[in-house]
Amino acid sequence: MNIAIIGSGYVGLVTGACFAHLGHQVLCVDNDPKKIECLRKGRSPIYEPGLEEMIRENVREGRLRFSLSTAQAVRECELLFICVNTPPKENGEADLSYIENVSREVAKNLKSYRLIIEKSTVPVQTGEWIQKTIRANKVKAALFDVASNPEFLREGSAIHDLLKPDRVILGVSSAKAEKILRKLYEPFKVPLVVTNLASAELIKHASNSFLATKISFINMLARICDVAGADIEQVAKGMGLDPRIGPSFLKAGIGFGGFCFPKDLSAFLSMSERLGQRFGLLKEVLDINETQKLYFVRKVESAVWNLRGKTLGILGLAFKPDTDDMRFAPSLDIIQALQKEDVKIQAYDPQAMERAKAVLSGVRYVKDPYAAARGADALLILTEWSEFLALDFKRIKKLMRHPLIFDGRNMYNPRDLKRLGFEYHGMGRGMEKV
Ligand code: UGA
Repeated sequence: MNIAIIGSGYVGLVTGACFAHLGHQVLCVDNDPKKIECLRKGRSPIYEPGLEEMIRENVREGRLRFSLSTAQAVRECELLFICVNTPPKENGEADLSYIENVSREVAKNLKSYRLIIEKSTVPVQTGEWIQKTIRANKVKAALFDVASNPEFLREGSAIHDLLKPDRVILGVSSAKAEKILRKLYEPFKVPLVVTNLASAELIKHASNSFLATKISFINMLARICDVAGADIEQVAKGMGLDPRIGPSFLKAGIGFGGFCFPKDLSAFLSMSERLGQRFGLLKEVLDINETQKLYFVRKVESAVWNLRGKTLGILGLAFKPDTDDMRFAPSLDIIQALQKEDVKIQAYDPQAMERAKAVLSGVRYVKDPYAAARGADALLILTEWSEFLALDFKRIKKLMRHPLIFDGRNMYNPRDLKRLGFEYHGMGRGMEKV
């Protein structure tokens, strides 16, 4: 099939590269000339394991091309995936102006049937607005369909998630659109859930909100474990073995970040208010997430006594491992709160330091975890990169001024570190006191 991807950000690039990998002809469009130039040279503007190699291979094989022109995409491709950004506005709503602009561009250039598919995460009823916008540009209804095919890609494993999804959601408004999308996705051999547009849009927001709710639930429980002398890891295991609850997304820590959960929850909350049904549970989920970061800062403060003048080593800045993404990373709020107390920060992250430099000043970025530990009064783990599991803690202990570890991601076994002479503080590991 001839597929256009309009918006070559994170979702667009992964989707485009994977469809090309599956043998389709793909044209990825973006309005940023620098990005298109970078992609044409075979370089990925974002770090995602396996993506750059996949882009290069498919460019070489002639299946993947890049362009600045939406008009070209509409001319050449029958399937148009809209993957542009839907950033949060100040009031939490999703800014849908890029989607509207693309809809207009598409309408202006539409000469024969095209299937326009929303892939960006959008509030319910956006599909309807796209339809109205295109029709308002005097395009006949028979010339196009709008569909919703939400993505469930996790940064760091996006290629796997796209090629081996648990399910594919197809929100359609005509039999023709359903037939085209079934043909595209049948080779995946996974459950296809065919719905109307609004249901598909809601499935995406509801899924992210539910996962975020699990995280805030477990984080609040972790605070209770801290005071009650319980171990959140055991509590989560005991809960997760019940198949009705399930073990995933019950990992306590410093809260969720990234460009999806915080913004999608705010957008869903605003949308529910607009629809006259205030979804207060989501407000609580967001509040717990915000206070979780401060809870961690207070934990550090209460163990080092005065923060002022202390040197803290930070391991991990990205919002989660295997990405260089710093958007809404919990590390940002935590480091900024610490800096207000005149703390010296020396930080290391395997991938995210370049991006961190653009948003976090006053930090000494160092070349490895040992340099972050050197002379530190405490070491704070903010992202659970697997390379941090293999650290030489005897060496780290010798380098630090005080052997104090705050494991914001519960990645270590407290007993192992205590045996080496560290004072260990995890999240919800109240059994430390026992
Ligand atoms: C999330 C969803 O998992 C994807 O299904 C969805 O497609 C994507 O958003 C999106 O809307 O585009 P992502 O933001 O890449 O994917 O990351 P997750 O792996 O879901 O993690 C989100 C945050 O939650 C991270 O900060 C992570 O550290 C945190 N988290 C996750 C926890 O604190 N505990 C957990 O148990 C799981």
